Amino acid sequence: MSEKRYGAPPHGSGGRVHSPFGLAPEFRTRPAMECDLSELADLDHEVFPHWAYPYFVLRQLFDVHQQHFWVLERLHERPIPDRPPPDRPDGSASGHNLLGYVLVGTSTDGRSGWVLGLGVVPDWRGHGLGRLLLHEAIGRLRAEGFAQVRLTAEPANAAALALYESAGFRQVELRKDYFGPGADRVYMIVDL
Ligand SMILES: CC(C)(COP(=O)(O)OP(=O)(O)OC[C@H]1O[C@@H](n2cnc3c(N)ncnc32)[C@H](O)[C@@H]1OP(=O)(O)O)[C@@H](O)C(=O)NCCC(=O)NCCS
Repeated sequence: MSEKRYGAPPHGSGGRVHSPFGLAPEFRTRPAMECDLSELADLDHEVFPHWAYPYFVLRQLFDVHQQHFWVLERLHERPIPDRPPPDRPDGSASGHNLLGYVLVGTSTDGRSGWVLGLGVVPDWRGHGLGRLLLHEAIGRLRAEGFAQVRLTAEPANAAALALYESAGFRQVELRKDYFGPGADRVYMIVDL
């Protein structure tokens, strides 16, 4: 499995990647590795405070879907001379090396993929990283011959709905109580 490296900005319409802290980071997307699991679990809890996977579920998702589990990693940071240093009490830019992830499950008939999880840590949202991860997943599924990508999103999650629609997903229906009583989800599909 290959990795992709990005300076700033990355490819495509997600080309707004820049640091909120006046640094010029470089990123790479790469397959998740077993040694990432602890940091991934922390990341997942930060991204999904109410819906984080229990560690054993994350572990098993990794085991089953490893080839479709990508992380976005910050490689290093270097100061830009004309920008102020990070505005943090300890002088650090952020406590994260992993800034986001996308997890895809695939159907056994080889036709469709499911985006099971996609998230970016709060400090780094709004900089094109979510789009980068989504494009990574869609591009990989397209290259592997999948015909469709499906997902569900919370109806009130305006950022996610806008991101998915901008990537070509269409809202198919509202599924009541999809994740249990009161937890409705918007079901979305994009054809590849
Ligand atoms: C949804 C999420 C992944 C978006 O990641 P991000 O890196 O902030 O998004 P990007 O900067 O790549 O933005 C891409 C597009 O998403 C939409 N978007 C992002 N943030 C938005 C916001 N706050 N409000 C409305 N639209 C937003 C826009 O269409 C944006 O494109 P534009 O900037 O050209 O208008 C991120 O907000 C997140 O991790 N949320 C918590 C986890 C989650 O809800 N995941 C989705 C589960 S279904």
